[in-house]
Amino acid sequence: MRVKGYRLIAPYYEKLRNLFFPGIRRYQAEFHRLKPHLVDRIVIVGGGGGDVLKPVLEKFKKSTIYYVEPSASMMQIAQKRFGTSRRIFFIEEPFEQAVVEDADIIILPFVLDIINRETLPAIAKKTRDVLKSKGFVLFSDFCEPKGIFAKIKLALLYLLFFPMRGKLQFSLPDYDLFFEQAKLRKVTQKTSKSKQYISALYQKE
Ligand SMILES: C[S@@+](CC[C@H](N)C(=O)[O-])C[C@H]1O[C@@H](n2cnc3c(N)ncnc32)[C@H](O)[C@@H]1O
Repeated sequence: MRVKGYRLIAPYYEKLRNLFFPGIRRYQAEFHRLKPHLVDRIVIVGGGGGDVLKPVLEKFKKSTIYYVEPSASMMQIAQKRFGTSRRIFFIEEPFEQAVVEDADIIILPFVLDIINRETLPAIAKKTRDVLKSKGFVLFSDFCEPKGIFAKIKLALLYLLFFPMRGKLQFSLPDYDLFFEQAKLRKVTQKTSKSKQYISALYQKE
């Protein structure tokens, strides 16, 4: 099953995102001092148009990357940019249905916030199943907005994604519950000064 509705927004998504949420680019590429030489395989879930691939390719110079993105329009953009890389396998499926090899690292870059609540337990299970023992999850996303301006900005973002999600929702998912369901332990986290963005490193025991 592919995700529909991104066709109109995909060409402008990153520009709009960088304008209204400039911290996303930095927080989705926060690697928390992970050691690249120990990493064979990385799965990136919902990477959109692919700008996250550049820092990942630069940091993990020898790793194979499984790029799982269900929107054909987003995937087209990512493949146009990075399609010549022999280290990337592009998989146009929702993560919960994707067939991927077990991974040392799974990256969840600003993707959990957009996934419908009912699908999150399946994503949590898939994350656990795909991750190798002692493997890591790099998670980045929005923090619960404080203040009216931050709340309005997040509400506008959810309105923008309404056609893709098919559901109106104005609050963020319970990330702690997600990682509890995935049975992962938090190793470290960073929160932006503005308290808008979080990046956290989790590990499978
Ligand atoms: C808000 S965009 C984020 C894109 C990019 N990671 C960023 O930080 O700008 C969310 C992305 O998640 C993808 N997505 C939605 N449901 C998904 C699923 N079940 N599995 C994997 N990706 C999914 C969408 O197609 C979209 O490209």
